[in-house]
Amino acid sequence: MSNTPRLYAKAVTLAYERRVISEKLSVAIPDGSFTVIVGPNASGKSTLLRALARLLPPSSGQIVLDGKEIGKHAAKAVASRIRLLPQSSIAPEGISVFDLVSRGRYPHQSFQRQWSKADEAAVWQAMELTGIADLAARPVDELSGGQRQRVWIGMVLAQETPILLLDEPTTFLDIAHQIELLDLCQYLSRHCGRTLVAVLHDLNHACRYATHIIAMRDGTIVAEGEPATITSPLVEDVFGLSCMIIDDPISATPLIVPRSKPRG
Ligand SMILES: Nc1ncnc2c1ncn2[C@@H]1O[C@H](COP(=O)(O)OP(=O)(O)OP(=O)(O)O)[C@@H](O)[C@H]1O
Ligand SMILES: [Mg+2]
Repeated sequence: MSNTPRLYAKAVTLAYERRVISEKLSVAIPDGSFTVIVGPNASGKSTLLRALARLLPPSSGQIVLDGKEIGKHAAKAVASRIRLLPQSSIAPEGISVFDLVSRGRYPHQSFQRQWSKADEAAVWQAMELTGIADLAARPVDELSGGQRQRVWIGMVLAQETPILLLDEPTTFLDIAHQIELLDLCQYLSRHCGRTLVAVLHDLNHACRYATHIIAMRDGTIVAEGEPATITSPLVEDVFGLSCMIIDDPISATPLIVPRSKPRG
């Protein structure tokens, strides 16, 4: 069983009350991978991330973390291993960038333990990595959408969990900051032994950066594997979009060129 990944879902049914989103879904997150989940709106991507982060208990099946059903771990044990950045979050009014990023450290603090030098260092490192150190004293609610997004990413990085789940982390970011963030994710998985799972809508980014892609439609996994899994029939099948796929001239990964469907 040495190849068992740290995090996987086994035949889970995910539902909100009686509304079933995914039925008997199984998926494994390869350790140390940069896994990207793609799929149309409402296909169940965020629902799956929530389940993997223990925020949505499956109605049947199991989410397993480090060999144990995730619901059976102490909350603190999960918090020190997995962190989810939700698709949208609201900052407490008036909070500063430094204080919000610092909140990422709280799972590491017990009642006995005070704020330490390690906490301070992790917060500054997370702010440096996300390019927000010069905003440290600014109130979060006065920042632009893209700056704010980077503060949230800084907060989840500050927690230093080995597994990071990011729901559309590039939303609101300009193209340079999108690439910078994806480069950072790649660096964390390649060189820091961290496992990243991100939902991305940009298939070209997904193909360029992911070591493992999961394509979802209607709550099911339609395909998974290396970026070459993304073919034009798959894009047509999953998104109903006709496209041509060429080689990305820089990374040689699939580059999706959509065909438009003119009206009239
Ligand atoms: N809290 C909720 N209560 C009831 N239904 C929900 C809830 N959250 C999501 N859903 C439904 O579950 C389905 C999957 O939603 P989910 O948010 O997982 O989709 P998604 O793939 O992340 O979409 P998007 O790309 O738009 O973020 C949708 O039909 C949605 O309406
Ligand atoms: Mg979503």
